[in-house]
Amino acid sequence: MSQFLQVRDLHVTYAAENGGLRALHGVNFNINQHEFVSIIGPSGSGKSTLLKVIAGLLEPTRGELIFNTQNDQPARIGFVFQQANLMPWRTVLENIMLPMEIQKIDPLVSKKKALELVELVGLDGFENTWVQDLSGGMAQRVAIARALIQEPELLLLDEPFGALDALTREQMGEELLRVWQVRKTTVLMVTHSISEALLLSDRVLVLSARPGRIYDDIAVGFPRPRTDQLRYTPAFGELSQKLKAAILPG
Ligand SMILES: Nc1ncnc2c1ncn2[C@@H]1O[C@H](COP(=O)(O)OP(=O)(O)OP(=O)(O)O)[C@@H](O)[C@H]1O
Ligand SMILES: [Mg+2]
Repeated sequence: MSQFLQVRDLHVTYAAENGGLRALHGVNFNINQHEFVSIIGPSGSGKSTLLKVIAGLLEPTRGELIFNTQNDQPARIGFVFQQANLMPWRTVLENIMLPMEIQKIDPLVSKKKALELVELVGLDGFENTWVQDLSGGMAQRVAIARALIQEPELLLLDEPFGALDALTREQMGEELLRVWQVRKTTVLMVTHSISEALLLSDRVLVLSARPGRIYDDIAVGFPRPRTDQLRYTPAFGELSQKLKAAILPG
């Protein structure tokens, strides 16, 4: 498997009144092409900061990111935030098409892509619904479709299902796996849930408490396709315990 991203010696210090606030301190890891990687770690350990740096929304204080893209083009990156951040006065389809509209892409082209995505994320029949009328899970589906419309090589998700109830959350996890398999993107997802990380990922990166650094890098070797039954196996229990010990050391 070829490497897609190398994160090298990443430091982020936010300006603060009494000196700087160190959010990340010497973060190093690699992600392979089409890998599904989760990040887990205590609150304030710099997980959102890390995603923002990778998305190019925040300049690191030190360190570098090396993307292995075709013809050295800038990496195409999609971002799904914890809150769906949709535009309530627009319909489902109009929200999904927004990134294309900003780039002044032919509306006929973007509408065709948006309709394909509506189907992919299971929103058939809701194309013309105002997003203010959607449930939390449906709104996150729109956010995922919007992030996918520019065919990102890397999909960043920051606790995408954190605000959903447990059953919807499980269902959305399964749907994300399906989307990842169909679209063949690379995924980097922040989550607070150990079982979600283990059910979905190829690898879990554990961040230490602030300032964040990679405390552990745990391979999740369960064969795919994975079903919910995996949760009840001894191997899953063992890996959950290992992950919990890494998150709460000592
Ligand atoms: N724009 C900012 N200016 C100053 N400090 C910030 C800024 N954004 C984040 N921080 C601080 O940096 C640290 C890391 O924040 P970050 O949001 O990356 O953590 P996190 O791991 O995503 O936490 P959570 O699990 O609660 O979402 C925190 O102490 C936070 O208060
Ligand atoms: Mg965060």
